[in-house]
This record gives sequence, structure tokens and C-alpha cells, in this order.
Amino acid sequence: MEEGYKESWKNWLKPIYDEYKTYLDKLADRIIFLGRIKDNLTVVDAGTGLGLIGFRVFKKFKNLNVIAIDKDKECLNYCREIIEKNNIRENYKLIDAAIDEKIPLEDCSADRILERAVTMYCVNKQNVLNEYYRILKKDSQISLFDVIFCDKTFRIYDYLNPKTTKNFEFYKAVEDKVRNEFYDPLTNFDEKTLKNDLKSAGFKNICIFKIKNYEFWRCSEKLEDTNLFYYGLPHVFSLNEKFLKYMTDEQFKIYYNEVEKQLKNKKIKYYGFRLFITALKTPSFISIIKLFFTRLRFWFSYVLVKRLRNSIVCLFQSGYDNF
Ligand SMILES: C[S@@+](CC[C@H](N)C(=O)[O-])C[C@H]1O[C@@H](n2cnc3c(N)ncnc32)[C@H](O)[C@@H]1O
Repeated sequence: MEEGYKESWKNWLKPIYDEYKTYLDKLADRIIFLGRIKDNLTVVDAGTGLGLIGFRVFKKFKNLNVIAIDKDKECLNYCREIIEKNNIRENYKLIDAAIDEKIPLEDCSADRILERAVTMYCVNKQNVLNEYYRILKKDSQISLFDVIFCDKTFRIYDYLNPKTTKNFEFYKAVEDKVRNEFYDPLTNFDEKTLKNDLKSAGFKNICIFKIKNYEFWRCSEKLEDTNLFYYGLPHVFSLNEKFLKYMTDEQFKIYYNEVEKQLKNKKIKYYGFRLFITALKTPSFISIIKLFFTRLRFWFSYVLVKRLRNSIVCLFQSGYDNF
């Protein structure tokens, strides 16, 4: 898909890494923890980006064989520079490949596959999971993190007044359509379809932690500044592009002005869902037990804490306009 933001992933990721480094490092640690990494394993970082997970896991464990895959050449060049700067001579391999096509690795060659926010950008999730299954050794596992957008987590029309908005039903119908497009990798899945895809690929002992994440934002005077419609992701349609498939330019302009008028200076609370996904390939009884305790620790130290924190945040943020 060549629509949307035309920049490379590298240019998109760099400022995000700089701004949210602490948060992303912690997230990478959680994915690594759920992946039950130990010394001497072969670990694949699928869709490595600028190497968030790959370099972190490589630093933390001894004799790890890291294979970092990405299809964005600029990301791979960036990682290559880090490898050269840090004089990493062996055990860190970069592969230029698309994980939703054929991953150029032998069957049963990896002990772990770690991934943050990559499967969610692939239109055909089944292909990706089949490939993960193929390259994993027996009794080994995946630890993935992805974000769901297709749930009814946020709709612009929820923030419009149906009584005073002309053509409200039309805008509502269009938005419901554009939020669930099969061609859009970000909206063509949820945790249930992912679980089915994992099962079809052959994975066993699948567990998906679905965590609600609240976000708050105040709309500025100009809708443009809130990035609502024009938020760009490489190779993914932005919201305005999707709306324009069902509206004329003129209709979109009227709609946009209406949204701007009604959202101006409002404080908005909305939520999204994050998924931590773990599953095993042909597991032994021992690895099922080990993974069970890892998940239990994760549940107590993160999932439960996050849920309690969410409830408190909601109580204290109740002043936000929550339509
Ligand atoms: C949101 S970034 C995440 C990067 C990294 N995993 C991280 O945690 O920072 C998505 C990455 O996935 C890569 N990617 C997207 N689709 C891919 C595909 N089909 N095959 C390989 N890499 C892909 C992009 O090039 C980009 O580097």
C-alpha cells in the first residue's frame, strides 16, 4: 500500500524513540520478559525498526544470537551504524526481508521470536504467523506486542452533537466503514481474529493479555494541530484519505469544518487496547508450566497494576468531556 505518509519508517520512528525512550525501553523489557529469554538462544526481532528490542536483548544476555529483520532499508542502515559504532563483530545479523512474505530463514531455526508493533502493520496476519511458526524450533515461543484499533475505542461522531450536525447519520456510517477496512492492516483484526490465525498456524498454549490504555487530549483551536485526520504512518492510509473514498472533497471540507467547530478546545478521554501475545510451538509439559508462571508474574506485576491504575486515572479524570 503506497498511500498515507510517504516517509520511511526510520524517519517516523526516530523522533518517537527520542521522546518516549523510557516508556519504549520498559515495553521492550516486558516483551523480553514474556519471551523467557536466556543465554545462548537464537532470537529473532521481527520488524526491528531502529533495533529497540534487538539491541536491548543482545545487551542483557550472554552469547545470544540475534537476527533482526526489517523491510525498511533506512532502518537497517541505522542498525548497521549502531553495530559498527559498538564494534559488534558477531552474533548480530540484519536481514532485509518482509515478514509477511517468505522469511529467509530455515525451518525450525529460531528459539524465540520477539516483536513490537509489526504484525499490526501487515495486511495478511495469517502469512506472518505461519512464517513465525515455520522458523521456530519445536518447544519454542513467540512474544509479540500489538495495538488494536478496530474495536469501538474512538469515533469522531461520538464527539459530535447528532441533533445539530447536518448529515450526522451519513458521517457516522462513513466512519464506521473506514474504521473496519479489510485492506487496512491497522483495522482488519482484533484479538479474536489473531487468536484464530495463531491456532491455524499451529500454535498451542496461546495467551493474549488485552490491556485498556486511556489517553487524554485537548483539541486545540485548529483541528490540524491535533493530528486527528492527518496523522501519518508510513504506507498506511490516514483518516482523511479513507474518508475521501466515500465523500467528495466538498463534503469532506464541510465535515472537517463541523468537527473543528464542535471539538475546539474540548478535552477528550479515549481508550485503546494493547495486546501482549505469547504462544508455543509443539510445547513440552515443562515449557507450558514455565510459561504459566512467567505469565502469572507478568499478570501480577503489570496487568493487575495497570488495571488498578486505569480505574484511579478514570476517577480523577472524570472532568474530561466523555460523550
Ligand atoms: C512501529 S515500527 C516498530 C519497530 C520496532 N519493532 C520497535 O519496537 O521499535 C514497525 C516496523 O515494522 C517494519 N515492518 C512493517 N511491515 C513489515 C513487514 N511486512 N516485514 C518486515 N518489516 C516490516 C517497519 O519497517 C518498521 O520498522
